[in-house]
Amino acid sequence: MGKVYYLSKNVGLGLLVLAASALATIIALSIAYDKAKNRGKPGDGATDSTSTPTPATTPFTSKDPWDHYRLPDSLIPVSYNVTLWPRLVPNIDGLYIFTGHSGVVFRCEKETDLILIHSNKLNLTTINGHHAKLSGLGEATAPAIQKSWLVVKTEYLVLQLRSRLTVGASYVLYVEFQGELADDLEGFYRSEYVDDGVKRVVATSQMQATYARKTFPCFDEPAMKAIFNIIIYHSQDTVALSNGREIGTKDTIIDGMAVRVTTFEPTEKMSTYVLAFIVTDFVSTQSNQHNNLLIRIWARRKAIEKNQGEYALNVTGPILQFYERYYNATYPLSKSDQIALPDFNAGAMENWGLITYRETALLYDPILSSTGNKERVTTVIAHELAHMWFGNLVTMRWWNDLWLNEGFASYVEYLGADHAEPTWNIKDQIVLYDVHKVFAVDALASSHPLSRREEEVNDPSQISEMFNTISYSKGAAVLRMLSEFLSEPVFAKGLSSYLNTFAFGNTVYTDLWDHLQQAVEKTPGMHIPHTVHDIMHRWTLQMGFPVVTINTRTGSITQKHFLLDPDSVVDRPSQFNYTWFVPIKWMKTGVEQQQYWLLKKTDTNTEMRASGGEWVVANTNVSGYFRVNYDTDNWDRLISLLNTNHQSLSIINRAQIIDDAFNLARAKIINTTLALRTTKYLSKERDYTPWESALRSLDYYILMFDRTEVYGALQAYFKKQIQPLFEHFKTITENWTKVPTGHTDQYSQINAIGVACSVGVPGCRELIKSWFKQWMENPHHNPIHPNLKTTVYCNAIAFGGVEEWDFAWRMLQNATLASEVTRLRSALACTKAPWLLNRYLEYTLDPTKIRKQDATSTIQYISRNVVGMPLAWNFFRAKWSFIYEQYGKGSFSFSNLVSGITTRFSTEFELQELRKFKEDNLDGGFGSATLALEQAIEKTTANIKWVTENKANVMKWFTEEST
Ligand SMILES: *[C@@H]1O[C@H](CO)[C@@H](O)[C@H](O)[C@H]1NC(C)=O
Ligand SMILES: *[C@@H]1O[C@H](CO)[C@@H](O)[C@H](O)[C@H]1NC(C)=O
Ligand SMILES: *[C@@H]1O[C@H](CO)[C@@H](O)[C@H](O)[C@H]1NC(C)=O
Ligand SMILES: *[C@@H]1O[C@H](CO)[C@@H](O)[C@H](O)[C@H]1NC(C)=O
Ligand SMILES: [Zn+2]
Repeated sequence: MGKVYYLSKNVGLGLLVLAASALATIIALSIAYDKAKNRGKPGDGATDSTSTPTPATTPFTSKDPWDHYRLPDSLIPVSYNVTLWPRLVPNIDGLYIFTGHSGVVFRCEKETDLILIHSNKLNLTTINGHHAKLSGLGEATAPAIQKSWLVVKTEYLVLQLRSRLTVGASYVLYVEFQGELADDLEGFYRSEYVDDGVKRVVATSQMQATYARKTFPCFDEPAMKAIFNIIIYHSQDTVALSNGREIGTKDTIIDGMAVRVTTFEPTEKMSTYVLAFIVTDFVSTQSNQHNNLLIRIWARRKAIEKNQGEYALNVTGPILQFYERYYNATYPLSKSDQIALPDFNAGAMENWGLITYRETALLYDPILSSTGNKERVTTVIAHELAHMWFGNLVTMRWWNDLWLNEGFASYVEYLGADHAEPTWNIKDQIVLYDVHKVFAVDALASSHPLSRREEEVNDPSQISEMFNTISYSKGAAVLRMLSEFLSEPVFAKGLSSYLNTFAFGNTVYTDLWDHLQQAVEKTPGMHIPHTVHDIMHRWTLQMGFPVVTINTRTGSITQKHFLLDPDSVVDRPSQFNYTWFVPIKWMKTGVEQQQYWLLKKTDTNTEMRASGGEWVVANTNVSGYFRVNYDTDNWDRLISLLNTNHQSLSIINRAQIIDDAFNLARAKIINTTLALRTTKYLSKERDYTPWESALRSLDYYILMFDRTEVYGALQAYFKKQIQPLFEHFKTITENWTKVPTGHTDQYSQINAIGVACSVGVPGCRELIKSWFKQWMENPHHNPIHPNLKTTVYCNAIAFGGVEEWDFAWRMLQNATLASEVTRLRSALACTKAPWLLNRYLEYTLDPTKIRKQDATSTIQYISRNVVGMPLAWNFFRAKWSFIYEQYGKGSFSFSNLVSGITTRFSTEFELQELRKFKEDNLDGGFGSATLALEQAIEKTTANIKWVTENKANVMKWFTEEST
């Protein structure tokens, strides 16, 4: 998917709002963007489409071709004609439907008397006693159909022919069908919104990964590329959009209904999963065409009238031009449409030429949106546009290589966004948003390698499971490392050759390595110690990553598989024995040194010895996907450097030292107190990234201790450390009247206020309350700056009562900007009143209160709250079968729900509850949360151990340091 699943890029808004008075108000906003796709349930036994016109004796042995999830390679599609007619008003049975017909031209490559084509949940019209009509093309005559039937499990329409198809000949398979335009966010579906009190219906689509077959029968695998000729019927007050440009409209009357027929130009040769069909009353804003490229941003009329599409329009052209240069390949289509949908599971989806977004990922309101909202719009657009080449023009052969597609887009989105907003230093943010984030997951024994074998990924729920943090963020991190050690020009050269060679085709990931290797060989003076294949295999075929330990007394360097829980058992063997080829960029006492390659378990580099005042920092700018440990002396020197002159280390490396130290301590490689000491200098730190890194690291301490007596001392320490930052922003904003100019300074200000209020820095809560009170007194004038809204709302609701809650709920109902709805939705989870939290939990199952796309993330927000956590856990268990049925079969957000609710688990009792939950529900399975549940058990076990071992020390340290 093009980003079908994007989760929890904090983008500086959710951040950590520290808990106050033992009542946590932590919200890590998990922003679903392309990384967080919330999928429904592919293929879970549709009740329709089981009828078989010629029932007969269909032998279902596991050997039959239709029992395999993968298509046989005997037939290859060439082109399709697809005509669709969605009805935006219900029929007499109250059902929203679409009708259509399609013809696919396919070529026979291997002799066969069987046709398998995907079809799911469609009612097919019977033609001459069968589900389809087959005819020969040109000279070919089509064999008669002996029987045809549908296989629900593997989602096929099967035709058994009376004789064989001829190799080399082409045929046309014609079908007529009717499907439901359901509000299930899959395939061709219905999205609703309310405008001036009137319900409006939009027909839209989400095909990735396996839902095109729910729209029309098709060879629904990414390698089955074809040309699509699309025609859409719709009413005259709507527009129809698809991948290609509209080339003609014709008005006509059908069954007494006025209908407009829109015809689209034939698509390029493309995969089914990036098809898109939309019928809507939306309007668009468009730019002056240059190079004949039409760029349009579509949204609800009101949003366009308020210029909320302007920012997206402003950045799209420059980002496309950037990629054209970077890839050295022109944009392959004649238009680029981007549309903001009120109901959309993923953050965004890179349909070729018609990208779909959640509103929060595309619309930016110059007055109401925050800097974080803007950054999200920029990076999501940059991500999706990157797929127009990487993913759409050149497509992986099968879903097992999804990581390359998503990892790639997740890496270059930073380059594209940087081009659009050069002052933001956005490229640095990859360390926080992707590298550090995925380190946390990839350090578990239950992690998995980036690359999976093709045979391991078959059915739709296995495909859905590929859309996870490892694919997106580790993929991004290792590709960035590759680009760094090859250098960007060499990387781009190999990339361009890959894209130009395989344009309109399919690849496996080693094809990219081939082209990069060729680029290396063609570059004079370029040298890497092994081939790109050999280096990269170690990062893609084995899970996890190394911790590199540098002893600056001896110059010895060692690597070891980094495991967060040192006692966990890795039962996944690695052909490389968990060693990596590690490119190490490093610096000695402020001077950049030559890149060093660690190629074995242990090595010595005498250059890395340090004495006297010398210090060593390795993995500068965190360009490599590994952690670094040092001998104690070097650690001491780094900590003292932080305390005396922190600016002699780069911002990223300050963040890295903190993040590495905390994680090494978790893994018992260094002492917990050593890690805590890296935070002492923070009273002098003004930059966002190190602070954010520390807050994320300390978040674990809060989660583990916010229900214990340690919490008081922890809070006191935080208060002491954050106060100077709070005062700093008070000064530079002239008593909170100005907005800091720097992009990340604005995020830092949010952290300062959020933390200061939750730990009770004098003046903070009063400030927030007064802002919120002003708003309550005059709901039409919100005095709170958009950047600060998330934090202010949360704290005001946490320290307020039912009046504040109900006010915020009313404001949520009235809000027209999706990002404002999200802020309020997360803030409502901050209340400390159990009855309000329980009422809110109930709302999540009522789609008239909380949209279905937002239900699981709302439950997660509630579980981040220390009071809400047990309530959410009870609710989750009580409503398990319903929640599972709604979200369980193929949803990334579903596994996030499981990991979200259980993050604080750290007692034997909770572990038992978790195990019992697993046992009780083993029969039904856990769908896409299977792995998440295993991870939750593993993490809880590790938490229990950690708390037992560290509680006394941590208590002592915070107590001493807070006075
Ligand atoms: C598809 O439509 C075109 C244009 O109407 C027509 O010429 C062609 O025969 C159709 N092909 C199939 C397979 O129906
Ligand atoms: C498909 O057929 C089934 C069985 O006749 C019917 O219940 C269902 O409503 C039909 N679906 C659509 C979208 O027409
Ligand atoms: C879009 O670009 C125009 C022209 O440069 C500029 O005036 C406008 O402020 C920009 N809009 C946004 C929302 O950034
Ligand atoms: C860009 O593409 C053109 C034509 O495909 C090719 O001649 C040229 O060498 C490419 N440039 C780079 C930097 O790869
Ligand atoms: Zn993507």
